[in-house]
Amino acid sequence: MSLKEAALKVRANAYAPYSNFQVGAAIQARSGVIYAGCNVENVAYPEGTCAEAGAIAAMVAAGETELTEVYVVAGSPMPVTPCGGCRQKLAEFGKSDVRVTMATTGGVEQVMTLAELLPGAFTQDHMAEE
Ligand code: THU
Repeated sequence: MSLKEAALKVRANAYAPYSNFQVGAAIQARSGVIYAGCNVENVAYPEGTCAEAGAIAAMVAAGETELTEVYVVAGSPMPVTPCGGCRQKLAEFGKSDVRVTMATTGGVEQVMTLAELLPGAFTQDHMAEE
């Protein structure tokens, strides 16, 4: 199954009764295995989680900590872009040149790297001793 197919498939399971905005994310890990996640909302709105966070959690739970490619899809008029928090989460596990494909269910795709999505990322280097 391709990243696109995995993202579209998991999107069908998104739990989004409050926004009615279903998102699917698939990430390829260093091993080649694909992990998928969907958004999971909550009546206490801030407790909801994004599709990207779900896919990352699945990857880490399976024992992997490096992602090499990302695909995110939603039924939006324009390709869905990861929120700020998810950009930081993706940057935790992916190198700056990792390709992130953002897509609509209608087939429009836009590709950006992690560095383009999160310029000036906060990294461990910022915490080095003075
Ligand atoms: N959402 C994601 O899951 N990923 C994104 O990249 C953008 C936004 C979710 C969060 C929330 O459940 C819904 O979309 C509306 O913001």
